[in-house]
Amino acid sequence: MTEQTGTAKLSFGDKELELPIYTPTAGPDVIDISKLYAQGDVFTFDPGFTSTAACDSTITFIDGEEGVLLHRGYPIDQLASKSHFLEVCFLLLYGHLPTASEVEDFEFRVTRHTMVHEQMTKFYSGFRRDAHPMAIMVGVVGAMSAFYHDSTDISDPWQREVASIRMIAKMPTIAAMAYKYTIGQPFVYPRNDLDYASNFLHMCFSVPAENYEVNPILSRAMDRIFTLHADHEQNASTSTVRLAGSSGANPFACIAAGIACLWGPAHGGANQACLEMLKEIGTVDRIPEYIARAKDKDDPFRLMGFGHRVYKNFDPRAKVMKQSADEVLDLLGIEDNPILQVAKELERQALEDPYFTDKKLFPNVDFYSGIILEAMGFPTAMFTPIFALARTVGWISQWKEMLGDPKQKIGRPRQLYIGETLRDYVDVENR
Ligand code: CMC
Repeated sequence: MTEQTGTAKLSFGDKELELPIYTPTAGPDVIDISKLYAQGDVFTFDPGFTSTAACDSTITFIDGEEGVLLHRGYPIDQLASKSHFLEVCFLLLYGHLPTASEVEDFEFRVTRHTMVHEQMTKFYSGFRRDAHPMAIMVGVVGAMSAFYHDSTDISDPWQREVASIRMIAKMPTIAAMAYKYTIGQPFVYPRNDLDYASNFLHMCFSVPAENYEVNPILSRAMDRIFTLHADHEQNASTSTVRLAGSSGANPFACIAAGIACLWGPAHGGANQACLEMLKEIGTVDRIPEYIARAKDKDDPFRLMGFGHRVYKNFDPRAKVMKQSADEVLDLLGIEDNPILQVAKELERQALEDPYFTDKKLFPNVDFYSGIILEAMGFPTAMFTPIFALARTVGWISQWKEMLGDPKQKIGRPRQLYIGETLRDYVDVENR
């Protein structure tokens, strides 16, 4: 925690309290209310945590007004263009850009953990073939705690480290196996001679019957998608991982909880929902109808891939993603893709509409990612598992940071109770 830089005065009833103010290295000051209940016998009320900092952190910073995203101080656009995913993983986990030997050692460690326990392959057959791969991911990642007993003791820093490497290494294998299972193809083992992104493409798209050459441009685009999703400070799934971890749950159970939270369409499920929406719109002439629906208070429809709790400006990840979409479709010779045309025109029309500009609703990371993933050959159901795979390093970094914090305690929000007060039980014949 930084030094106290001021004091906020809070008066209510006959009470007057002084609350410490802390100034972060970037972002707004925070008022420390942790002693509020003890001193003032009141709670604060903040549904959706719109004004609440739940922890201090050194990992990721977002300036939503300016559209800035920094990992350990480095801007996301620089990381997306100059770095690569495993280097960003190292940065998130350990706080500094690795030296050449550090990155080599890290890649070696991750690469040597890519296989999953062979018995886990049997676990998949318990799922229906038409299971959503996110359902499989939640189950299989949770089940890792039953396979890797030697890395579940969270009080041991070495076991925490091994669990972290295991999850970063095995998540592509688990996601690719979920995909292969749902399409009825044999699982493809990882190849340690390939880089992280190429290996994932290989495990998803190769079959034992023929050779599969990973296209380096697609592999680079895949790596960039991983990098753009690596972490995003205290979002819903990360907060879920922290909350699950605060009780002392094992790391695999915590990450499974994060995957479950990510699945929702307001969070990681938006990339699937966005592509489905773009397909439903189909042609540019139908865009005004959908914009009108998004603006209609009586219609629950929202423009998927638009808006963000924190960004009130362009999501910096969306800018890189849009450029990547152009590159990938160009490479694949599908630059006149109708879905991309709908996406670009929808973005243009929404950004000229005062409804969206007044509410500061801009395209987010999910607006263009689905177009790239579909062009690569992924079905929509795989979009969110790919997000989960990439976000795993962020979840783990935040989980490790939390466990290393001496102030860490179990997360336990309070409530504004508005239900019945004490009343006596009524026997069934008298109700
Ligand atoms: N389309 C139409 N109207 C919208 C949209 C949208 N996509 N997003 C927000 N609004 C309106 C909303 O109706 C509300 O209007 P009013 O003030 O008149 O009631 C206002 O904008 C504020 O919305 P909110 O729901 O209070 O804002 P929030 O911060 O709680 O929600 C959000 C953020 C991301 C859940 C929301 O913008 C949304 O549902 N977007 C679509 C889903 C999406 O793309 N999610 C991916 C987020 S980025 C990836 C990730 O982090 O997982």
